Amino acid sequence: MTREIRLSDVGVGVLDDGPDGDVVRPILQDVNLTLTEDIVAVIGANGSGKSTLLQLFNGLVTANAGEVLVDGFDPRRQAAKVRSRVGFVFTDPAAQLVMPTAIEDIELSLRKSVPKRERRAAALAVLDELGIADLADRSVYELSGGQRQLVALAAVLAVDPQILVLDEPTTLLDLRNKERLRVHLQELVARRGVRIILTTHDLEFAQIAQRAVVVEDGRIAADSTPAEAVATYRNIIMSDTP
Ligand SMILES: Nc1ncnc2c1ncn2[C@@H]1O[C@H](COP(=O)(O)OP(=O)(O)O)[C@@H](O)[C@H]1O
Ligand SMILES: [Mg+2]
Repeated sequence: MTREIRLSDVGVGVLDDGPDGDVVRPILQDVNLTLTEDIVAVIGANGSGKSTLLQLFNGLVTANAGEVLVDGFDPRRQAAKVRSRVGFVFTDPAAQLVMPTAIEDIELSLRKSVPKRERRAAALAVLDELGIADLADRSVYELSGGQRQLVALAAVLAVDPQILVLDEPTTLLDLRNKERLRVHLQELVARRGVRIILTTHDLEFAQIAQRAVVVEDGRIAADSTPAEAVATYRNIIMSDTP
């Protein structure tokens, strides 16, 4: 198992209607990345292309140019193989929680891997691992944004992904839950060898990564250690701000 994501000359564009008909507006251009580190952080301004980049990794977005390979599989042609490897946690938990209670959502995730009579106990164990077993039977609509985000993470972890992609997982979390998330992600790496790719606007949180990529206007503007990448990102913002 290589647990490697490789992007070669990748471009993503969307069709826009211009004055002379449809034009392709580029969202990502010339992206070359081979990700093999335990934790990779993707940082950059709003609208720079971070979520689009992450969504390439499990086929939620497909490339118009170049090639994306996840453990050698193309998300476009071998979608099932890729999705069984890559778990994706959305910024907005509402995008992925579908059941009325937290535990039912986890049980739904487990339906293919755990027999029905063992499912509730297994789901509770997943919630317990994230320190949120007490939320099991609460309505997801009553939960705070941060609690919901942790339930969404639990639902993805329940299927035991080898690669975990998280789009701004810290946005809704308070300090305690952010700390819990940090410890949990590090344990996933240490105990299960999970590879993690995350975006965050929390530049301190980004320091848990071994490598950080800065996206600017759809291109990779820096690719280095988190400390250096954050410095580059600050420079970009400073030189841009009147
Ligand atoms: N499906 C889409 N259709 C049209 N434009 C899109 C679509 N997805 C993203 N974009 C545009 O692409 C740019 C990058 O978006 P996104 O990847 O969400 O950035 P980020 O996550 O860094 O904020 C933005 O200008 C956004 O409006
Ligand atoms: Mg985004």
